[in-house]
Amino acid sequence: MAHQLLKGKKGIIFGALDERSIAWKTAIRAVEEGAEIVLTNAPIALRMGKINELAKLCNDAPVIPADATSVADLESLLQKSMEHFGGKMDFILHSIGMSPNVRKAIPYTDTNYDNFLKTLDISALSLHKVLQSSMKLDALNEWSSVVALTYIAAQRTFPGYNDMAEAKALMESIARSFGYHYGFAKKVRVNTISQSPTITTAGSGVSGFDAFFTYADKMSPLGNATAEQCADYCLTMFSDYTKMVTMQNLFHDGGFSNTGVSQSIIEEMEKAAQANG
Ligand SMILES: NC(=O)c1ccc[n+]([C@@H]2O[C@H](COP(=O)([O-])OP(=O)(O)OC[C@H]3O[C@@H](n4cnc5c(N)ncnc54)[C@H](O)[C@@H]3O)[C@@H](O)[C@H]2O)c1
Repeated sequence: MAHQLLKGKKGIIFGALDERSIAWKTAIRAVEEGAEIVLTNAPIALRMGKINELAKLCNDAPVIPADATSVADLESLLQKSMEHFGGKMDFILHSIGMSPNVRKAIPYTDTNYDNFLKTLDISALSLHKVLQSSMKLDALNEWSSVVALTYIAAQRTFPGYNDMAEAKALMESIARSFGYHYGFAKKVRVNTISQSPTITTAGSGVSGFDAFFTYADKMSPLGNATAEQCADYCLTMFSDYTKMVTMQNLFHDGGFSNTGVSQSIIEEMEKAAQANG
């Protein structure tokens, strides 16, 4: 289903860890649609992950390490990418999330504040650092598109999501604020895509993920959106067909965000009530 939607466009894809990653699927689809890409991830993820396999599938895309919390790493990544492409770029996917509190199963009400700050730095401030470095180095063409992935826990409470909820709320706010400044300065657009629960390394790390995945699927009129479908949505946001969309949080969740309760969940509750006598 390739339409050369991104023919002639060049961009950086952050966050492809393995074949389940949303960034992995987006990289493959972006290349199918005619884009040239650079792949990047944190140095430790590059050592542990399979990004070189992905690079081969993407016309031997360069793989350039960058810890997204390090401005020096990000500037070096942007400079090397521009050298590789011979000029400025047209899109960036920020597909980065990590919470040491979630990883160590530390409850939200007993949080470790050093971990909390790391969560915010890796999962939210990193978007500001990417945007500020891009602006400083003038790395993006006019009408470029930057997309970051987020989750509805930024707006509503989901207990297992822990301090990632605050990180996503901050990241969505950065997308709006930076979208304003980058829009006026360079016509660069910045949006977040709020994706359904998706079975990936980051997703499955959230406690109770499997039950929650099923719940969200039953709550959503169209079902949960898959990683492949999220990749397709990212591509449309990189394309020229969405040129006037900026500073938005875009729900890509099969209708979950606007559903109060579904008939299927009501029936489950009725069955449970009958079983309990
Ligand atoms: N999986 C879900 O249910 C779901 C739902 C909504 C939004 N999201 C978001 O989608 C994005 C991608 O996650 P995913 O589900 O594909 O999982 P994933 O685990 O495959 O991707 C997360 C990536 O973040 C990278 N990362 C972590 N620390 C980093 C650092 N310091 N510098 C650079 N990169 C770093 C990891 O190496 C990894 O590649 C995340 O922002 C996540 O919060 C996921």
